[in-house]
Amino acid sequence: MYSDLKPSFSFLILLFLCLQPLIFSLSTDASPPPTVCIVGSGIGGSSVAHFLRHYFHPSPSQPTPPNIKIFERSYVVGGRMATVSIGGESFEAGASILHPKNYHALNYSNLLGLKVKPPPASEDDDSMSLGIWDGKKFVFKTLQVDSKFPLVQKIVSYVNSFRIFFRYGFSLLKMGSFVEVFVLFIAFLFLPKKSTVDSFLKYYESPERRPIFETVDEMLKWAGLYNLTTQTLQDELIGIKLSPLLIKELVTVITRINYGQSVYISGLAGAVSLAGSGGGLWSVDGGNWQMASGLINSSDVSLHLNEEIESISYLGEYYELNSTKRNSYSCEVAVVATPLDEVNIRFSPAVSIPERKLQHTHATFVRGLLNPAYFGLRTVAEIPELVGTLEDPDLPFTCISVLKQLDENDTTYKIFSRGPMSDALLDSIFSARLQTNRINWGAYPHYKAPELFAPFILDGQHLYYVNAFENAASTMETSAVAAENVARLILSRYFSEASLQSSNLQSFSPDADVSHFDL
Ligand SMILES: Cc1cc2nc3c(=O)[nH]c(=O)nc-3n(C[C@H](O)[C@H](O)[C@H](O)COP(=O)(O)OP(=O)(O)OC[C@H]3O[C@@H](n4cnc5c(N)ncnc54)[C@H](O)[C@@H]3O)c2cc1C
Ligand SMILES: *[C@@H]1O[C@H](CO)[C@@H](O)[C@H](O)[C@H]1NC(C)=O
Repeated sequence: MYSDLKPSFSFLILLFLCLQPLIFSLSTDASPPPTVCIVGSGIGGSSVAHFLRHYFHPSPSQPTPPNIKIFERSYVVGGRMATVSIGGESFEAGASILHPKNYHALNYSNLLGLKVKPPPASEDDDSMSLGIWDGKKFVFKTLQVDSKFPLVQKIVSYVNSFRIFFRYGFSLLKMGSFVEVFVLFIAFLFLPKKSTVDSFLKYYESPERRPIFETVDEMLKWAGLYNLTTQTLQDELIGIKLSPLLIKELVTVITRINYGQSVYISGLAGAVSLAGSGGGLWSVDGGNWQMASGLINSSDVSLHLNEEIESISYLGEYYELNSTKRNSYSCEVAVVATPLDEVNIRFSPAVSIPERKLQHTHATFVRGLLNPAYFGLRTVAEIPELVGTLEDPDLPFTCISVLKQLDENDTTYKIFSRGPMSDALLDSIFSARLQTNRINWGAYPHYKAPELFAPFILDGQHLYYVNAFENAASTMETSAVAAENVARLILSRYFSEASLQSSNLQSFSPDADVSHFDL
Protein backbone atom coordinates (compact mmCIF):
# COMPACT_ATOMS: atom_id res chain seq x y z
CA MET A 1 0.00 0.00 0.00
CA TYR A 2 2.64 2.44 1.12
CA SER A 3 4.81 1.82 -1.90
CA ASP A 4 1.78 2.26 -4.10
CA LEU A 5 1.11 5.65 -2.67
CA LYS A 6 4.62 6.91 -2.70
CA PRO A 7 5.09 7.34 -6.45
CA SER A 8 1.82 9.18 -6.84
CA PHE A 9 2.65 11.40 -3.90
CA SER A 10 5.96 12.42 -5.39
CA PHE A 11 4.23 12.85 -8.70
CA LEU A 12 1.88 15.32 -7.04
CA ILE A 13 4.81 17.28 -5.63
CA LEU A 14 6.37 17.31 -9.04
CA LEU A 15 3.14 18.49 -10.55
CA PHE A 16 2.86 21.21 -7.95
CA LEU A 17 6.42 22.37 -8.63
CA CYS A 18 5.73 22.47 -12.35
CA LEU A 19 2.51 24.40 -11.87
CA GLN A 20 3.90 26.79 -9.30
CA PRO A 21 5.28 29.32 -11.79
CA LEU A 22 1.90 29.32 -13.46
CA ILE A 23 -0.01 29.86 -10.21
CA PHE A 24 2.51 32.50 -9.27
CA SER A 25 2.10 34.37 -12.53
CA LEU A 26 -1.71 34.16 -12.29
CA SER A 27 -1.78 35.76 -8.89
CA THR A 28 0.74 38.53 -9.55
CA ASP A 29 0.61 39.89 -13.07
CA ALA A 30 -2.87 38.47 -13.67
CA SER A 31 -4.85 40.05 -16.48
CA PRO A 32 -7.00 42.95 -15.24
CA PRO A 33 -10.34 41.94 -13.73
CA PRO A 34 -13.26 41.79 -16.16
CA THR A 35 -15.56 44.78 -16.47
CA VAL A 36 -19.32 44.60 -16.13
CA CYS A 37 -21.06 47.56 -17.79
CA ILE A 38 -24.61 48.35 -16.72
CA VAL A 39 -26.86 50.64 -18.75
CA GLY A 40 -29.33 52.38 -16.43
CA SER A 41 -29.14 53.52 -12.80
CA GLY A 42 -32.69 52.73 -11.68
CA ILE A 43 -33.50 50.16 -9.04
CA GLY A 44 -32.72 47.44 -11.63
CA GLY A 45 -29.19 48.57 -12.58
CA SER A 46 -28.23 49.49 -9.03
CA SER A 47 -29.51 46.14 -7.75
CA VAL A 48 -27.42 44.23 -10.32
CA ALA A 49 -24.32 46.04 -9.01
CA HIS A 50 -25.30 45.32 -5.41
CA PHE A 51 -25.90 41.61 -5.95
CA LEU A 52 -22.73 41.20 -8.05
CA ARG A 53 -20.78 42.42 -5.01
CA HIS A 54 -22.93 40.44 -2.58
CA TYR A 55 -22.60 37.07 -4.34
CA PHE A 56 -19.06 37.32 -5.73
CA HIS A 57 -16.61 34.81 -4.30
CA PRO A 58 -13.06 34.66 -5.59
CA SER A 59 -12.26 31.46 -7.47
CA PRO A 60 -9.02 30.21 -9.06
CA SER A 61 -10.29 31.27 -12.48
CA GLN A 62 -11.61 34.64 -11.26
CA PRO A 63 -9.58 35.71 -8.22
CA THR A 64 -10.46 39.41 -8.44
CA PRO A 65 -13.92 40.94 -8.34
CA PRO A 66 -15.11 42.64 -11.53
CA ASN A 67 -14.97 46.36 -12.19
CA ILE A 68 -18.49 47.70 -12.40
CA LYS A 69 -19.48 50.71 -14.50
CA ILE A 70 -22.97 52.17 -14.56
CA PHE A 71 -24.06 54.49 -17.38
CA GLU A 72 -26.96 56.84 -16.88
CA ARG A 73 -28.19 59.21 -19.55
CA SER A 74 -29.81 61.51 -17.00
CA TYR A 75 -27.92 63.79 -14.61
CA VAL A 76 -29.39 61.92 -11.63
CA VAL A 77 -29.73 58.27 -10.63
CA GLY A 78 -32.98 56.45 -9.87
CA GLY A 79 -34.81 56.40 -13.22
CA ARG A 80 -38.51 56.02 -12.58
CA MET A 81 -37.93 56.68 -8.89
CA ALA A 82 -37.83 60.46 -8.74
CA THR A 83 -39.26 63.26 -6.66
CA VAL A 84 -40.84 66.54 -7.62
CA SER A 85 -40.69 69.60 -5.42
CA ILE A 86 -43.87 71.58 -4.85
CA GLY A 87 -44.31 74.38 -2.37
CA GLY A 88 -40.98 73.50 -0.79
CA GLU A 89 -42.00 69.90 -0.21
CA SER A 90 -40.96 66.86 -2.18
CA PHE A 91 -43.35 64.19 -3.47
CA GLU A 92 -42.81 60.96 -5.38
CA ALA A 93 -43.29 61.69 -9.07
CA GLY A 94 -42.93 58.10 -10.27
CA ALA A 95 -42.81 54.90 -8.22
CA SER A 96 -44.26 55.71 -4.84
CA ILE A 97 -45.64 52.78 -2.87
CA LEU A 98 -43.89 49.69 -1.55
CA HIS A 99 -45.62 46.62 -0.17
CA PRO A 100 -44.70 45.31 3.32
CA LYS A 101 -43.48 42.10 1.66
CA ASN A 102 -41.14 43.88 -0.77
CA TYR A 103 -38.19 42.30 1.02
CA HIS A 104 -35.37 43.50 -1.23
CA ALA A 105 -36.53 47.10 -0.89
CA LEU A 106 -36.88 46.59 2.87
CA ASN A 107 -33.39 45.12 3.10
CA TYR A 108 -31.95 47.97 1.04
CA SER A 109 -33.54 50.51 3.35
CA ASN A 110 -32.12 48.76 6.43
CA LEU A 111 -28.71 48.26 4.88
CA LEU A 112 -28.50 51.87 3.75
CA GLY A 113 -29.97 53.35 6.92
CA LEU A 114 -32.89 54.92 5.07
CA LYS A 115 -35.95 55.99 7.00
CA VAL A 116 -39.27 54.53 5.89
CA LYS A 117 -42.67 56.21 6.22
CA PRO A 118 -46.24 55.58 5.14
CA PRO A 119 -47.03 57.07 1.72
CA PRO A 120 -49.26 60.19 1.70
CA ALA A 121 -52.34 58.43 0.32
CA SER A 122 -52.55 55.94 3.16
CA GLU A 123 -51.68 58.28 6.01
CA ASP A 124 -55.20 58.00 7.29
CA ASP A 125 -56.42 54.95 5.43
CA ASP A 126 -59.95 54.82 6.73
CA SER A 127 -60.75 58.49 6.34
CA MET A 128 -59.45 58.90 2.78
CA SER A 129 -62.53 59.46 0.69
CA LEU A 130 -62.96 57.94 -2.74
CA GLY A 131 -65.22 58.75 -5.63
CA ILE A 132 -65.64 57.00 -8.96
CA TRP A 133 -66.14 59.56 -11.70
CA ASP A 134 -67.63 58.56 -15.07
CA GLY A 135 -67.09 61.93 -16.77
CA LYS A 136 -70.54 63.27 -15.89
CA LYS A 137 -71.24 62.15 -12.35
CA PHE A 138 -69.85 60.19 -9.45
CA VAL A 139 -71.25 56.67 -9.84
CA PHE A 140 -70.02 55.95 -6.37
CA LYS A 141 -68.82 58.03 -3.44
CA THR A 142 -67.80 57.14 0.08
CA LEU A 143 -69.16 59.18 2.97
CA GLN A 144 -66.95 62.01 4.06
CA VAL A 145 -67.01 63.05 7.67
CA ASP A 146 -64.17 65.00 9.12
CA SER A 147 -64.04 64.00 12.71
CA LYS A 148 -61.27 63.92 15.24
CA PHE A 149 -63.06 61.15 17.13
CA PRO A 150 -61.76 57.69 16.27
CA LEU A 151 -65.17 56.14 17.05
CA VAL A 152 -66.92 58.41 14.55
CA GLN A 153 -64.27 57.56 11.97
CA LYS A 154 -64.78 53.88 12.66
CA ILE A 155 -68.55 54.20 12.21
CA VAL A 156 -68.07 56.15 8.99
CA SER A 157 -65.79 53.44 7.72
CA TYR A 158 -68.40 50.77 8.53
CA VAL A 159 -71.11 52.79 6.80
CA ASN A 160 -68.81 53.03 3.81
CA SER A 161 -68.29 49.28 3.90
CA PHE A 162 -72.07 48.84 3.71
CA ARG A 163 -72.33 51.33 0.86
CA ILE A 164 -69.70 49.45 -1.09
CA PHE A 165 -71.35 46.18 -0.20
CA PHE A 166 -74.75 47.30 -1.47
CA ARG A 167 -73.33 48.48 -4.75
CA TYR A 168 -71.02 45.60 -5.48
CA GLY A 169 -72.78 42.86 -3.57
CA PHE A 170 -71.55 39.53 -2.40
CA SER A 171 -68.68 39.51 -4.88
CA LEU A 172 -66.77 41.53 -2.39
CA LEU A 173 -66.68 38.59 -0.02
CA LYS A 174 -64.48 36.93 -2.60
CA MET A 175 -62.17 39.90 -2.61
CA GLY A 176 -61.41 40.06 1.07
CA SER A 177 -62.87 39.76 4.51
CA PHE A 178 -65.95 41.86 4.99
CA VAL A 179 -64.54 44.01 7.74
CA GLU A 180 -61.74 45.00 5.42
CA VAL A 181 -64.06 45.89 2.59
CA PHE A 182 -63.60 49.58 3.00
CA VAL A 183 -59.86 49.38 3.41
CA LEU A 184 -60.03 47.43 0.19
CA PHE A 185 -60.35 50.67 -1.69
CA ILE A 186 -56.90 51.61 -0.70
CA ALA A 187 -55.96 48.13 0.35
CA PHE A 188 -57.26 45.95 -2.48
CA LEU A 189 -56.98 42.70 -0.58
CA PHE A 190 -58.46 39.83 -2.45
CA LEU A 191 -58.09 36.13 -2.74
CA PRO A 192 -56.27 35.39 -6.01
CA LYS A 193 -53.87 38.20 -5.29
CA LYS A 194 -53.12 36.92 -1.83
CA SER A 195 -51.90 33.67 -3.28
CA THR A 196 -49.97 35.65 -5.89
CA VAL A 197 -48.09 37.40 -3.10
CA ASP A 198 -47.32 34.01 -1.55
CA SER A 199 -46.04 32.59 -4.86
CA PHE A 200 -43.89 35.64 -5.28
CA LEU A 201 -42.26 34.95 -1.90
CA LYS A 202 -40.55 31.94 -3.48
CA TYR A 203 -38.11 34.38 -5.05
CA TYR A 204 -36.76 35.11 -1.58
CA GLU A 205 -35.88 31.49 -0.81
CA SER A 206 -32.21 30.96 -0.15
CA PRO A 207 -30.05 30.91 -3.29
CA GLU A 208 -28.97 27.33 -2.53
CA ARG A 209 -32.54 26.14 -3.02
CA ARG A 210 -33.46 28.54 -5.79
CA PRO A 211 -32.44 27.95 -9.41
CA ILE A 212 -30.86 30.61 -11.61
CA PHE A 213 -33.19 31.38 -14.49
CA GLU A 214 -32.18 32.08 -18.09
CA THR A 215 -35.69 33.04 -19.16
CA VAL A 216 -38.60 34.89 -17.63
CA ASP A 217 -40.93 32.04 -18.63
CA GLU A 218 -38.87 29.55 -16.58
CA MET A 219 -38.72 31.97 -13.64
CA LEU A 220 -42.49 32.52 -13.61
CA LYS A 221 -43.30 28.84 -14.08
CA TRP A 222 -41.08 27.87 -11.16
CA ALA A 223 -43.06 30.15 -8.80
CA GLY A 224 -46.41 29.10 -10.27
CA LEU A 225 -47.09 32.57 -11.69
CA TYR A 226 -46.80 31.88 -15.41
CA ASN A 227 -50.45 30.94 -16.01
CA LEU A 228 -51.55 34.33 -14.70
CA THR A 229 -49.75 35.92 -17.68
CA THR A 230 -51.74 33.89 -20.21
CA GLN A 231 -55.18 35.31 -19.31
CA THR A 232 -56.49 38.83 -18.88
CA LEU A 233 -57.36 40.11 -15.42
CA GLN A 234 -60.95 40.44 -16.61
CA ASP A 235 -61.15 36.73 -17.57
CA GLU A 236 -59.41 35.79 -14.34
CA LEU A 237 -62.00 37.68 -12.26
CA ILE A 238 -64.97 36.44 -14.28
CA GLY A 239 -63.52 32.99 -13.67
CA ILE A 240 -63.88 33.44 -9.91
CA LYS A 241 -67.37 34.88 -10.47
CA LEU A 242 -66.82 38.49 -9.46
CA SER A 243 -69.75 40.70 -10.41
CA PRO A 244 -69.38 42.52 -13.74
CA LEU A 245 -70.17 45.85 -12.03
CA LEU A 246 -67.35 45.34 -9.54
CA ILE A 247 -64.93 44.64 -12.38
CA LYS A 248 -66.18 47.54 -14.48
CA GLU A 249 -65.95 50.02 -11.60
CA LEU A 250 -63.85 49.20 -8.56
CA VAL A 251 -61.26 46.96 -10.20
CA THR A 252 -60.98 49.24 -13.23
CA VAL A 253 -60.34 52.24 -10.99
CA ILE A 254 -57.46 50.35 -9.40
CA THR A 255 -55.79 49.08 -12.59
CA ARG A 256 -56.09 52.56 -14.08
CA ILE A 257 -54.44 54.14 -11.05
CA ASN A 258 -51.59 51.63 -10.89
CA TYR A 259 -50.90 50.84 -14.54
CA GLY A 260 -52.94 53.44 -16.45
CA GLN A 261 -54.69 50.55 -18.19
CA SER A 262 -57.94 48.63 -18.24
CA VAL A 263 -58.84 45.19 -16.88
CA TYR A 264 -57.48 43.71 -20.13
CA ILE A 265 -53.99 43.69 -18.60
CA SER A 266 -52.67 40.22 -17.75
CA GLY A 267 -53.91 38.51 -14.63
CA LEU A 268 -50.46 38.77 -13.09
CA ALA A 269 -50.05 42.52 -13.67
CA GLY A 270 -53.60 42.85 -12.37
CA ALA A 271 -52.92 40.85 -9.23
CA VAL A 272 -49.78 42.88 -8.52
CA SER A 273 -51.74 46.06 -9.08
CA LEU A 274 -54.50 44.92 -6.72
CA ALA A 275 -51.90 43.87 -4.17
CA GLY A 276 -50.75 47.48 -4.12
CA SER A 277 -51.78 47.73 -0.51
CA GLY A 278 -53.47 46.18 2.47
CA GLY A 279 -52.05 48.41 5.14
CA GLY A 280 -48.38 48.57 5.98
CA LEU A 281 -47.61 50.32 2.71
CA TRP A 282 -44.48 52.36 2.87
CA SER A 283 -42.04 54.51 0.96
CA VAL A 284 -38.58 55.89 1.63
CA ASP A 285 -38.55 59.16 3.53
CA GLY A 286 -37.04 61.78 1.24
CA GLY A 287 -37.52 59.72 -1.91
CA ASN A 288 -37.36 56.12 -3.11
CA TRP A 289 -34.52 57.06 -5.48
CA GLN A 290 -32.20 56.95 -2.46
CA MET A 291 -32.28 53.15 -2.68
CA ALA A 292 -30.57 53.37 -6.09
CA SER A 293 -28.06 56.02 -5.02
CA GLY A 294 -27.29 54.14 -1.80
CA LEU A 295 -26.73 50.81 -3.56
CA ILE A 296 -24.46 52.48 -6.14
CA ASN A 297 -22.44 54.27 -3.44
CA SER A 298 -21.96 51.08 -1.44
CA SER A 299 -21.09 48.80 -4.36
CA ASP A 300 -17.77 50.28 -5.56
CA VAL A 301 -19.17 51.34 -8.90
CA SER A 302 -17.80 53.88 -11.33
CA LEU A 303 -20.84 55.94 -12.20
CA HIS A 304 -21.07 57.80 -15.51
CA LEU A 305 -23.89 60.32 -15.27
CA ASN A 306 -25.14 62.27 -18.29
CA GLU A 307 -23.76 59.56 -20.51
CA GLU A 308 -26.17 57.83 -22.86
CA ILE A 309 -25.13 54.54 -24.44
CA GLU A 310 -25.83 54.59 -28.18
CA SER A 311 -24.46 51.25 -29.29
CA ILE A 312 -23.38 47.89 -27.93
CA SER A 313 -21.22 45.78 -30.24
CA TYR A 314 -19.97 42.30 -29.58
CA LEU A 315 -16.33 42.05 -30.65
CA GLY A 316 -15.57 38.44 -29.77
CA GLU A 317 -13.95 38.64 -26.33
CA TYR A 318 -15.78 41.73 -25.16
CA TYR A 319 -18.50 44.29 -25.85
CA GLU A 320 -17.77 47.79 -27.04
CA LEU A 321 -20.15 50.41 -25.68
CA ASN A 322 -20.24 53.78 -27.38
CA SER A 323 -21.74 56.81 -25.70
CA THR A 324 -23.09 60.19 -26.72
CA LYS A 325 -19.94 61.68 -25.15
CA ARG A 326 -17.99 59.96 -27.96
CA ASN A 327 -16.44 57.63 -25.41
CA SER A 328 -15.84 53.97 -26.03
CA TYR A 329 -15.73 51.33 -23.30
CA SER A 330 -14.84 47.67 -23.45
CA CYS A 331 -16.73 45.37 -21.15
CA GLU A 332 -16.63 41.59 -20.85
CA VAL A 333 -20.24 41.64 -19.64
CA ALA A 334 -22.96 44.12 -20.68
CA VAL A 335 -26.24 44.55 -18.82
CA VAL A 336 -29.24 46.46 -20.14
CA ALA A 337 -31.24 47.70 -17.13
CA THR A 338 -33.82 49.81 -18.90
CA PRO A 339 -36.80 48.89 -21.07
CA LEU A 340 -35.59 48.54 -24.68
CA ASP A 341 -38.97 49.46 -26.10
CA GLU A 342 -38.28 53.14 -26.61
CA VAL A 343 -34.51 53.55 -26.36
CA ASN A 344 -32.24 53.89 -29.35
CA ILE A 345 -29.41 51.51 -28.55
CA ARG A 346 -27.93 49.93 -31.70
CA PHE A 347 -26.90 46.34 -31.16
CA SER A 348 -24.33 44.66 -33.32
CA PRO A 349 -25.07 41.93 -34.12
CA ALA A 350 -28.77 42.81 -33.93
CA VAL A 351 -30.78 41.23 -31.13
CA SER A 352 -34.31 40.09 -31.57
CA ILE A 353 -36.98 40.35 -28.86
CA PRO A 354 -40.78 40.23 -28.85
CA GLU A 355 -42.40 43.56 -29.58
CA ARG A 356 -43.67 45.41 -26.51
CA LYS A 357 -45.22 48.86 -26.12
CA LEU A 358 -44.86 51.16 -23.17
CA GLN A 359 -47.86 52.74 -21.53
CA HIS A 360 -47.24 56.45 -21.05
CA THR A 361 -48.46 58.05 -17.87
CA HIS A 362 -48.47 61.81 -17.64
CA ALA A 363 -48.04 62.84 -14.02
CA THR A 364 -49.21 66.41 -13.47
CA PHE A 365 -48.72 68.10 -10.12
CA VAL A 366 -50.85 71.10 -9.34
CA ARG A 367 -50.74 73.37 -6.34
CA GLY A 368 -54.04 75.23 -6.21
CA LEU A 369 -57.69 74.34 -5.80
CA LEU A 370 -60.06 72.05 -7.67
CA ASN A 371 -63.15 73.58 -9.22
CA PRO A 372 -66.27 71.92 -7.72
CA ALA A 373 -68.37 73.04 -10.71
CA TYR A 374 -66.32 70.75 -12.98
CA PHE A 375 -67.67 67.82 -10.95
CA GLY A 376 -71.19 69.24 -10.68
CA LEU A 377 -70.68 69.98 -7.00
CA ARG A 378 -71.12 73.14 -4.96
CA THR A 379 -68.10 73.06 -2.64
CA VAL A 380 -64.54 71.81 -2.82
CA ALA A 381 -65.10 69.84 0.37
CA GLU A 382 -67.57 67.59 -1.47
CA ILE A 383 -64.89 66.44 -3.94
CA PRO A 384 -63.44 63.10 -2.82
CA GLU A 385 -59.74 63.11 -1.95
CA LEU A 386 -59.16 60.36 -4.48
CA VAL A 387 -61.10 60.63 -7.72
CA GLY A 388 -60.85 57.40 -9.73
CA THR A 389 -62.30 56.97 -13.20
CA LEU A 390 -63.90 54.37 -15.44
CA GLU A 391 -62.58 53.07 -18.73
CA ASP A 392 -63.88 55.67 -21.19
CA PRO A 393 -61.67 57.12 -23.94
CA ASP A 394 -63.34 60.53 -23.52
CA LEU A 395 -62.19 60.89 -19.92
CA PRO A 396 -59.22 63.27 -19.96
CA PHE A 397 -57.60 61.89 -16.80
CA THR A 398 -57.13 58.61 -14.93
CA CYS A 399 -57.18 59.86 -11.36
CA ILE A 400 -56.75 62.95 -9.22
CA SER A 401 -55.65 62.73 -5.62
CA VAL A 402 -54.86 65.09 -2.81
CA LEU A 403 -51.20 64.90 -1.81
CA LYS A 404 -51.28 67.54 0.85
CA GLN A 405 -53.71 70.13 2.04
CA LEU A 406 -51.80 73.24 3.06
CA ASP A 407 -54.88 75.31 3.87
CA GLU A 408 -58.45 75.71 2.65
CA ASN A 409 -57.44 77.34 -0.63
CA ASP A 410 -54.07 75.77 -1.15
CA THR A 411 -53.77 72.05 -1.84
CA THR A 412 -51.22 69.94 -3.72
CA TYR A 413 -52.77 67.43 -6.14
CA LYS A 414 -51.41 64.66 -8.32
CA ILE A 415 -53.12 63.84 -11.62
CA PHE A 416 -52.39 60.80 -13.77
CA SER A 417 -53.51 60.79 -17.38
CA ARG A 418 -52.77 58.90 -20.60
CA GLY A 419 -52.25 62.08 -22.59
CA PRO A 420 -50.82 65.47 -21.62
CA MET A 421 -53.02 67.80 -19.53
CA SER A 422 -53.31 71.07 -21.45
CA ASP A 423 -53.52 74.42 -19.67
CA ALA A 424 -57.07 74.89 -20.98
CA LEU A 425 -58.13 71.54 -19.54
CA LEU A 426 -56.45 72.24 -16.20
CA ASP A 427 -58.15 75.64 -16.07
CA SER A 428 -61.53 73.92 -16.34
CA ILE A 429 -60.72 71.40 -13.59
CA PHE A 430 -59.05 73.91 -11.24
CA SER A 431 -60.36 77.23 -10.02
CA ALA A 432 -56.87 78.30 -8.96
CA ARG A 433 -53.38 77.18 -9.97
CA LEU A 434 -50.23 78.42 -8.27
CA GLN A 435 -47.81 75.85 -9.63
CA THR A 436 -47.99 73.11 -12.28
CA ASN A 437 -45.36 70.44 -12.98
CA ARG A 438 -45.67 67.93 -15.79
CA ILE A 439 -43.79 64.67 -16.29
CA ASN A 440 -44.35 62.31 -19.21
CA TRP A 441 -43.28 58.82 -18.13
CA GLY A 442 -42.71 55.87 -20.45
CA ALA A 443 -44.20 54.32 -17.39
CA TYR A 444 -44.57 50.53 -17.69
CA PRO A 445 -45.31 47.97 -20.38
CA HIS A 446 -48.68 47.99 -22.07
CA TYR A 447 -49.82 44.64 -20.69
CA LYS A 448 -51.66 42.03 -22.67
CA ALA A 449 -52.50 38.36 -22.40
CA PRO A 450 -50.85 36.11 -23.27
CA GLU A 451 -47.57 37.92 -22.63
CA LEU A 452 -44.41 37.11 -24.61
CA PHE A 453 -41.12 37.56 -22.82
CA ALA A 454 -37.67 38.51 -24.04
CA PRO A 455 -34.92 36.30 -22.57
CA PHE A 456 -32.60 37.50 -19.80
CA ILE A 457 -29.67 36.64 -22.08
CA LEU A 458 -30.06 38.61 -25.29
CA ASP A 459 -27.33 37.04 -27.42
CA GLY A 460 -26.49 33.69 -25.86
CA GLN A 461 -23.19 35.27 -24.71
CA HIS A 462 -22.82 37.89 -21.99
CA LEU A 463 -25.38 40.52 -22.92
CA TYR A 464 -28.12 40.58 -20.28
CA TYR A 465 -31.54 42.22 -20.09
CA VAL A 466 -33.03 42.88 -16.63
CA ASN A 467 -36.24 44.48 -17.90
CA ALA A 468 -37.26 41.34 -19.77
CA PHE A 469 -39.14 40.65 -16.52
CA GLU A 470 -41.07 43.90 -16.67
CA ASN A 471 -44.02 42.64 -18.69
CA ALA A 472 -44.69 40.13 -15.93
CA ALA A 473 -45.30 43.15 -13.68
CA SER A 474 -43.52 46.47 -13.27
CA THR A 475 -42.64 47.50 -9.74
CA MET A 476 -39.50 48.51 -7.90
CA GLU A 477 -39.43 45.12 -6.19
CA THR A 478 -39.91 43.06 -9.37
CA SER A 479 -36.98 45.00 -10.88
CA ALA A 480 -34.88 44.07 -7.85
CA VAL A 481 -35.94 40.42 -8.06
CA ALA A 482 -35.08 40.28 -11.77
CA ALA A 483 -31.77 42.06 -11.10
CA GLU A 484 -30.82 39.54 -8.41
CA ASN A 485 -31.41 36.71 -10.85
CA VAL A 486 -29.38 38.48 -13.56
CA ALA A 487 -26.48 39.04 -11.13
CA ARG A 488 -26.49 35.33 -10.28
CA LEU A 489 -26.66 34.46 -13.99
CA ILE A 490 -23.61 36.63 -14.69
CA LEU A 491 -21.64 35.12 -11.83
CA SER A 492 -22.49 31.57 -12.79
CA ARG A 493 -21.99 32.02 -16.52
CA TYR A 494 -19.00 34.35 -16.66
CA PHE A 495 -17.23 33.97 -13.36
CA SER A 496 -17.20 30.22 -12.96
CA GLU A 497 -15.75 28.41 -15.95
CA ALA A 498 -17.54 25.13 -15.31
CA SER A 499 -21.06 26.47 -15.34
CA LEU A 500 -20.17 28.83 -18.16
CA GLN A 501 -19.63 25.89 -20.46
CA SER A 502 -22.76 24.05 -19.45
CA SER A 503 -24.99 27.08 -19.75
CA ASN A 504 -23.52 28.06 -23.09
CA LEU A 505 -24.64 24.72 -24.46
CA GLN A 506 -28.25 25.46 -23.71
CA SER A 507 -28.06 29.01 -24.96
CA PHE A 508 -31.09 30.90 -26.05
CA SER A 509 -33.04 30.02 -29.14
CA PRO A 510 -35.79 32.40 -30.23
CA ASP A 511 -39.19 30.96 -30.98
CA ALA A 512 -39.74 30.94 -34.70
CA ASP A 513 -43.47 31.49 -34.52
CA VAL A 514 -43.63 34.70 -32.51
CA SER A 515 -43.30 38.21 -33.83
CA HIS A 516 -39.87 39.56 -33.12
CA PHE A 517 -38.37 42.83 -34.04
CA ASP A 518 -34.75 43.75 -34.47
CA LEU A 519 -33.00 46.40 -32.47
C1 LIG B 1 -45.97 57.11 -12.60
C2 LIG B 1 -45.42 55.80 -12.12
C3 LIG B 1 -45.88 55.26 -10.92
C4 LIG B 1 -45.36 54.05 -10.46
N1 LIG B 1 -45.77 53.59 -9.24
C5 LIG B 1 -45.13 52.54 -8.69
C6 LIG B 1 -45.37 52.20 -7.33
O1 LIG B 1 -46.15 52.84 -6.62
N2 LIG B 1 -44.69 51.14 -6.81
C7 LIG B 1 -43.77 50.43 -7.55
O2 LIG B 1 -43.15 49.51 -7.01
N3 LIG B 1 -43.52 50.75 -8.84
C8 LIG B 1 -44.17 51.79 -9.43
N4 LIG B 1 -43.89 52.15 -10.71
C9 LIG B 1 -43.00 51.28 -11.52
C10 LIG B 1 -41.53 51.49 -11.17
O3 LIG B 1 -41.21 52.84 -11.29
C11 LIG B 1 -40.64 50.71 -12.12
O4 LIG B 1 -41.05 49.36 -12.22
C12 LIG B 1 -39.17 50.67 -11.64
O5 LIG B 1 -38.79 51.88 -11.07
C13 LIG B 1 -38.30 50.30 -12.82
O6 LIG B 1 -36.93 50.40 -12.47
P1 LIG B 1 -35.79 50.04 -13.53
O7 LIG B 1 -34.50 50.25 -12.86
O8 LIG B 1 -36.07 48.70 -14.07
O9 LIG B 1 -35.99 51.07 -14.73
P2 LIG B 1 -35.80 52.67 -14.71
O10 LIG B 1 -36.10 53.22 -13.37
O11 LIG B 1 -36.58 53.19 -15.85
O12 LIG B 1 -34.25 52.87 -14.97
C14 LIG B 1 -33.69 52.87 -16.24
C15 LIG B 1 -32.61 53.95 -16.32
O13 LIG B 1 -31.89 53.79 -17.52
C16 LIG B 1 -31.58 55.07 -18.05
N5 LIG B 1 -31.32 54.88 -19.47
C17 LIG B 1 -32.20 54.54 -20.44
N6 LIG B 1 -31.58 54.42 -21.62
C18 LIG B 1 -30.27 54.69 -21.40
C19 LIG B 1 -29.11 54.72 -22.26
N7 LIG B 1 -29.19 54.44 -23.57
N8 LIG B 1 -27.92 55.03 -21.71
C20 LIG B 1 -27.83 55.30 -20.38
N9 LIG B 1 -28.89 55.29 -19.53
C21 LIG B 1 -30.09 54.99 -20.05
C22 LIG B 1 -32.82 55.88 -17.74
O14 LIG B 1 -32.53 57.26 -17.74
C23 LIG B 1 -33.19 55.37 -16.35
O15 LIG B 1 -32.59 56.12 -15.33
C24 LIG B 1 -44.39 53.35 -11.21
C25 LIG B 1 -43.93 53.90 -12.41
C26 LIG B 1 -44.43 55.12 -12.86
C27 LIG B 1 -43.89 55.69 -14.13
C1 LIG C 1 -32.61 40.41 4.03
O1 LIG C 1 -31.59 40.48 4.99
C2 LIG C 1 -31.60 39.41 5.92
C3 LIG C 1 -30.54 39.70 6.95
O2 LIG C 1 -29.32 40.05 6.34
C4 LIG C 1 -31.37 38.10 5.19
O3 LIG C 1 -31.39 37.02 6.10
C5 LIG C 1 -32.46 37.92 4.16
O4 LIG C 1 -32.23 36.76 3.40
C6 LIG C 1 -32.50 39.13 3.24
N1 LIG C 1 -33.64 39.01 2.35
C7 LIG C 1 -33.52 39.07 1.04
C8 LIG C 1 -34.78 38.98 0.28
O5 LIG C 1 -32.46 39.20 0.46
